[in-house]
Amino acid sequence: MKTIKAIVANWKMNHLRADAEAFCSKFVAEYTQKTGIAVGIAPPYPYLELVGSRLKDSGVLLFAQNGLDKPKGAYTGEVSMVQLKDIGCYGVILGHSERRQYYGETEATLVPKIISARENDLLPLLCVGESLAQRESNEILEVISRQLAILSQVGAGSIWIAYEPIWAIGTGRVATPAQVEEVHVFIRKEMIRLLGEPGKDIPILYGGSVTPENATELLQTPEVAGGLVGGASLDPEKFHQLVTQAQK
Ligand code: PGA
Repeated sequence: MKTIKAIVANWKMNHLRADAEAFCSKFVAEYTQKTGIAVGIAPPYPYLELVGSRLKDSGVLLFAQNGLDKPKGAYTGEVSMVQLKDIGCYGVILGHSERRQYYGETEATLVPKIISARENDLLPLLCVGESLAQRESNEILEVISRQLAILSQVGAGSIWIAYEPIWAIGTGRVATPAQVEEVHVFIRKEMIRLLGEPGKDIPILYGGSVTPENATELLQTPEVAGGLVGGASLDPEKFHQLVTQAQK
């Protein structure tokens, strides 16, 4: 099996209903699905169903930005993987650095989330990445290795990885192709070490200030199977340009 390529839009806590609708009409009108490249959009929870209905039949995949591992019950403010599947999600972003930083997401909380996502037939898109301080003190590979170690607990199964250096997220400071390659090659080795043969085919996306201006170079970097895009994914034209670049 050859590793699939993918571009996923992470809208984070942006857009209102009208923006989401306008985005979908513009994007869907321009988008042509191509084999081998998956395209996904992760809107905020309130618009998941709306975006899902607008994307219906377009081939664009619906992602959530987080999910809880408990199937149901007294968990005020949370949304279960069961519910995400029920409203038509294909996958769920897990372990985004903003969730790790602001909401106490840890390796321990991520293990049951990955398991629950898989049990509900949702693709987990697991984010890893180092902070600027960790990069400067040369702890990059150690941090990534620790974040990936949970794969040995959840075993082989559906998963995509996104390498997102925290210092490159939303800052306009994109990692150089050499920096990206170093970590992506390391992630590939770690996945093979932890998961064996299946570790060879898991797509590794890059995220952090990806734009149509820098995407072509990043997408040609060894072991980069696509992108997880925040800021530039809010504009349907920019996002379409990114998708077109990935499809080449
Ligand atoms: P950015 O965000 O493209 O705005 O840097 C990427 C992400 O956090 O997924």
